[in-house]
This record gives sequence, structure tokens and C-alpha cells, in this order.
Amino acid sequence: MRRIEIAGRRDAERRPEQRDCEQSHGRRQLCPRSGGHVQNVERGHRRRTGLTLAAPVRHETTPMRACGLAGSLRKGSYNRALLRAAITVAPSGLDIEVFERLGEMPLYNADVEAAGDPEPVAALKAAIGAADALLIVTPEYNYGVPGVLKNAIDWASRPPSSSVLDGKPIALMGATPGRTGTARAQLALRQSFVFTRSPVLPGPEVLVAEAHEKFAPDGTLRDEATREHVRELLQRLVRWTERLRPR
Ligand SMILES: Cc1cc2nc3c(=O)[nH]c(=O)nc-3n(C[C@H](O)[C@H](O)[C@H](O)COP(=O)(O)O)c2cc1C
Repeated sequence: MRRIEIAGRRDAERRPEQRDCEQSHGRRQLCPRSGGHVQNVERGHRRRTGLTLAAPVRHETTPMRACGLAGSLRKGSYNRALLRAAITVAPSGLDIEVFERLGEMPLYNADVEAAGDPEPVAALKAAIGAADALLIVTPEYNYGVPGVLKNAIDWASRPPSSSVLDGKPIALMGATPGRTGTARAQLALRQSFVFTRSPVLPGPEVLVAEAHEKFAPDGTLRDEATREHVRELLQRLVRWTERLRPR
């Protein structure tokens, strides 16, 4: 797996303290003086607002980070198991960090938001903002997206002018004991990400049907074809994310 390096801005465009850091450290990474200015940046936010935020510069040995979200709270969830399986087949150079706190998010309420993001919401936004990409694993409820996941996406989409979802590359997967593999839920999710301007990987579609036959009782994904499919999705997500980076 090729490691990635994000093209930095021209020197004149970088903040003075960044230039100083580069001169003194010889690299543009994790400088305490500038508050860790090469940590992930909300690219869409910068693009939309024109604010001078940190340059999206990454040292070539830094792995790509994907934030993993599973839209089920169930302990024995097939979708959470699928996300765990993704971690085991991820290409080298891709770290998947699962955000496990969707069950703590309050239902979206603009009055609550106006008083300030509740802590789990702030944590979700921080996790997405710090990631290069999102990996979402969705169950299908009544041909749609489960409320737990939709609620989290609604919070993360706020405010639209500076949402952490803006420009964030996304890959989708889903598992169900049914025969359609969450195809309808995934289609509905794609629709949500039109408004947030999040580029969703067109394919391959990872539709895990008859999940009860593909996972072992301990949640291990034992179906080799599905494992291969997930591996291919993640490889494409890496290429998709690299391609979408601002130059
Ligand atoms: C309210 C509800 C609606 C459901 N609707 C669908 C559906 O439309 N299509 C489907 O394939 N499965 C449907 N199911 C079955 C889920 O796919 C199944 O419960 C699955 O195990 C949920 O994902 P999880 O294992 O990650 O919790 C539904 C389940 C519930 C509880």
C-alpha cells in the first residue's frame, strides 16, 4: 500500500508560525507551538469560508484515518461485526477508528443545538473532523436508514456552512439477515450525503445479505467472499480519498 502525502500550500500561503516550525523541525507535522497545525483540517470548511486554517499537510509515513460508524446499538449486531471485520482486512496505511458513542447522542433538537453541542455530539464532530474519510455500516430498517444513524448524521451536518461532512469522502457497507443486503438503506444514505456535499464512493456496493450465514456466533466474518469484497471497498476508499484531496 502506498503511503500518502498531501500537497501543502505554497510557502507564502502558510501561517508564519508554520513556516517557523518547518524551518526548526524540518517537517510540517505536529508542532506544539502552532497547536498541532497539521492535524486534520475541515477542508470543506476552509473551501467554503476562505478561513486560513492549517495546511492539510501529512508526513508520508502517517497513515490515512477513517472514522467508522455502525448504525446499530445491538451487542450482537451484524453491522458492528462487519465494521470490526473491516479493521482486520484494511490495507496497510489505513487506520479505522470506530466511534462507538452513537447511543449517547440526544435526538436532534435545534433548541439544544443553540445552547451548544452536547458533549457526545462534539465528540462525534471531532472524530469525523479528524478523519480523512468515513466508513459507515448501516442496517436497513423499513427500507430506510435506522434512526440512530440518521440522527448522528443530522447532528454532524450542522451547521451546514461549516459541517465536518462537507467534502468528506465516505464508503458505505451494510448487513442484514434479509436478501437485499441493505441496498435500499444504502441508497437512502447516499441521498442524505448530497446535501452535505460528501462524496460517496460509487462502488463496489458491499451488500451483505443473509448475514446470519456469514458471521460466526462470536461475530467473526467467516465468509471469505465477503471479506474480499470489504477489502476491495477499503482499497478503493483509499484511492478515492487520495484523489479528492485538494492539491
Ligand atoms: C424496525 C426494524 C425494521 C427492519 N426492516 C428491515 C428492512 O427493511 N430490510 C431488511 O433487510 N431488514 C430489516 N430489518 C431486520 C434487520 O436487518 C435486522 O434486525 C438486523 O440484524 C439489524 O442489524 P444489526 O444486526 O446490525 O443490529 C428490520 C429490523 C427492525 C428492528
